[in-house]
Amino acid sequence: MKRKLVIFASGSGSNAEKIIEYLSNHPTLEISCVLSNKSDAYVLERVRELGVESYYFPKSDFDLGIPIVDFLQNRGIEGIILAGFLLKVSQPILQAFPQKIINIHPALLPKYGGKGMYGHFVHEAVKAAGERESGITIHYVNEHYDEGNIIFQAKCSLDADDGPEEIARKVQKLEHTYFPRVVEKVFGK
Ligand code: GAR
Repeated sequence: MKRKLVIFASGSGSNAEKIIEYLSNHPTLEISCVLSNKSDAYVLERVRELGVESYYFPKSDFDLGIPIVDFLQNRGIEGIILAGFLLKVSQPILQAFPQKIINIHPALLPKYGGKGMYGHFVHEAVKAAGERESGITIHYVNEHYDEGNIIFQAKCSLDADDGPEEIARKVQKLEHTYFPRVVEKVFGK
C-alpha cells in the first residue's frame, strides 16, 4: 500500500501541481488530497482537474486542529506538505504529525522568514536589501513560522536590476525543480 500524503495550500497551487505530477504513478507515495483554508483559492480547482480531491476547511478548523487531525487520520494520511500555506500550524496538528510536516519558503532562511513574510513580500524585502542571491528553503515545521530544521536549500543569483517579479520567477523555477524531489526523499524513506 502506498504512503498517503496531503498538501495544504492557500493560493494558486503551482507547487501542488508539480508535486502531484511528479508523484503520479509513484511506487510508494501518493497525494491523497489537498486542503485549503481559502474557499476561492485556485489550488482547489487546479488539483481537481488533475484528478485529486480537494477540500476547503475554515481557518477556525486549522486553528483548533482537531477537526483537521480527525480528517487526516480517517484517511490514513502519514505526512503533510505545506505548499504556499499561510496559516500557522496549530499544536494538535504538530503533535499528531511529529517530524512529518514540511514547508517550502521562497528565500534563504533564516533570512526573510517569519510572520507576514510570504509570497511577494519576501521578494520585495530581498530586493530592498540589495541581495545578489536568493533561493528556496525546505524545512520541517514547528510552532514558530519558518524556524524548523532545514532539510534543503537551493540558490539563484540575482542581477542588480532584477525586480521582485524577476526574483519571484527565478525562485519559482527552483521550487518547481526541487520541491517534488525533496518530498520524495523525505517521505519515501
Ligand atoms: C511559493 O512561492 C511558496 O514558497 C510561498 O508561496 C508560494 C506559493 O505558490 N510560500 C510562502 O511564502 C510561505 N511563507 P503556489 O501557490 O503557486 O505554489
